[in-house]
Amino acid sequence: MMPVGPLMKEHRLIERMIRIMQANLESIRKEGKVDPAFVDTAVDFIRTYADRCHHGKEEDILFRDLIKKKISDEHQRIMQELIEEHKKGRNNVKKLIEAKEKYVQGNKDALKDIVSNMETLVKFYPKHIEKEDKHFFIPCMDYFTDSEKDTMLNEMWEFDRSMIHERYAKIVEKHEK
Ligand SMILES: [Fe+2]
Ligand SMILES: [Fe+2]
Repeated sequence: MMPVGPLMKEHRLIERMIRIMQANLESIRKEGKVDPAFVDTAVDFIRTYADRCHHGKEEDILFRDLIKKKISDEHQRIMQELIEEHKKGRNNVKKLIEAKEKYVQGNKDALKDIVSNMETLVKFYPKHIEKEDKHFFIPCMDYFTDSEKDTMLNEMWEFDRSMIHERYAKIVEKHEK
């Protein structure tokens, strides 16, 4: 398997979650209220799976190794866009959490901020994924030898393996304070 294989597989699960978020947005608009527990679930999915696990492997393994290669101006440009988009996504999630907190505390005006940040994420991910799947991942594999690709893939499995331990160690540390 190529190192972009697991990343493309992860895109499919992210797309499924985005569709659920889209449906949830429609019911928020219809009913004029938010299910804070769903927002928590969506935020956890995006932060842990889409950002830490998925963008983590893109940035810390694939992009890190691409930076060491002489890549075309076009690929360089796309990679910078992708990094910027990851940052924007993180910022949207942060704003979504803040709006949800306000909403839970009784500020009903925060509903529009929940909707706008969820909308941004729902629109952002499919475009970002399409850019990676159709214009970046496969052509970028040509910069690597078979052995470099194998090393990268192994590092990705290791990244995933250690993630679960990292996640729960953080939870324990947070509650020990
Ligand atoms: Fe990405
Ligand atoms: Fe991605």
